[in-house]
Amino acid sequence: MKHISNRVQNIHSSGIRKFFDLVLGVEDIISLGVGEPDFVTPWHIREACIYSLERGYTSYTSNWGVLELRELIADKLRGDYGVEYDPEGEILITTGVSEGMDLVLRATINPSDEVIIPEPGYVAYKPCVILAGGMPVTIDTRIDNDFKATPEEITSKITENTKAIILNYPNNPTGSTMKGSELEEIADIAVEHDLLVISDEIYAKLTYEGTHTCFSSLNGMRNNTILLNGMSKAYAMTGWRIGYACGNREILENMMKIHQYTMLCSPITAQMAAVEALRNSDDSLRKMVTEYNRRRNLIVKGLNSIGLHCFEPKGAFYTFPSIADFNLKSEEFAERLLREEMLAVVPGNAFGNAGEGYLRCAYAVSREVLNEALSRLERFVGRLG
Ligand SMILES: Cc1ncc(COP(=O)(O)O)c(C=O)c1O
Repeated sequence: MKHISNRVQNIHSSGIRKFFDLVLGVEDIISLGVGEPDFVTPWHIREACIYSLERGYTSYTSNWGVLELRELIADKLRGDYGVEYDPEGEILITTGVSEGMDLVLRATINPSDEVIIPEPGYVAYKPCVILAGGMPVTIDTRIDNDFKATPEEITSKITENTKAIILNYPNNPTGSTMKGSELEEIADIAVEHDLLVISDEIYAKLTYEGTHTCFSSLNGMRNNTILLNGMSKAYAMTGWRIGYACGNREILENMMKIHQYTMLCSPITAQMAAVEALRNSDDSLRKMVTEYNRRRNLIVKGLNSIGLHCFEPKGAFYTFPSIADFNLKSEEFAERLLREEMLAVVPGNAFGNAGEGYLRCAYAVSREVLNEALSRLERFVGRLG
């Protein structure tokens, strides 16, 4: 259609959305498809939001976001990872990590700049790079390397047009994460080739083994990393739409130029809720992480015993089992599973070609639901023989 821009015609609708249109309105479906917590936002956070409305907080905020929130984020990053950001000019409150990703790409990418993206990876990265006028260059990570991009694989994709690399650990959809020593090797490459690292650490707090290393805390990386994080996953606040971007003042200033004209600011009520979440949620966060970990153990054991070989995820709330033994493409497997057993999972190819032969099963559902899902899966693969 002539009214649609070439740029938008060049991107496709999310594979997840396409798949879930099939699910809408059908009863008795169990879904391991949705990438969001089943927990409701803890009550004290909701209450803080209600109270902020009662006090009449209904205005715009600074374009940068509520200062108190930025100060709390700076405190947390210093306390958790020893990384320093100035709340005035180096931290921008965004409408989710989604907006942060869009802003950093639009603020930094020129036509024909290349952005390296390890896959399987989060569905938004490629389209966002294309919308910013750049060229996504993907790396196919492998299960035998725990779905991590190696320094050799990254180096082999670097050309004179490479501008940035997007990292996401713990990872959606595989649950893989990276150790400090592995990240240091990537940092060395970034320094050598003067690359910007866009580090999406939205699942950092959902790390079950080892400790999370913040990319910008690595030697020499603070100035060429844009750190993206937010409230959606760890605090069960997906609908509130609060994220934050931290980094080099000049890049942030330029991201801000776009943000102030397109978004203006994130909603004040959600920012007030985020203040409460960062101040007082240690307990609720711990409880949710403990429960996700129990579910992780249950589903990994269950999938492996059914014959769906499952890499053990180290963070986030996804498993990414292989269906290599069943001679079906991941879309066909997922569609038949949905029709025959009313169980929804996401076909791995929604996350890039490297995801073909896998499924994404989220364990952000109760253990009861997980057990029922595993029974349905077992029945289904039993029929496949
Ligand atoms: C890796 C990753 N980044 C970003 C997002 C979007 O986060 P937000 O809700 O903060 O926009 C998601 C949501 O699923 C995600 O999995």
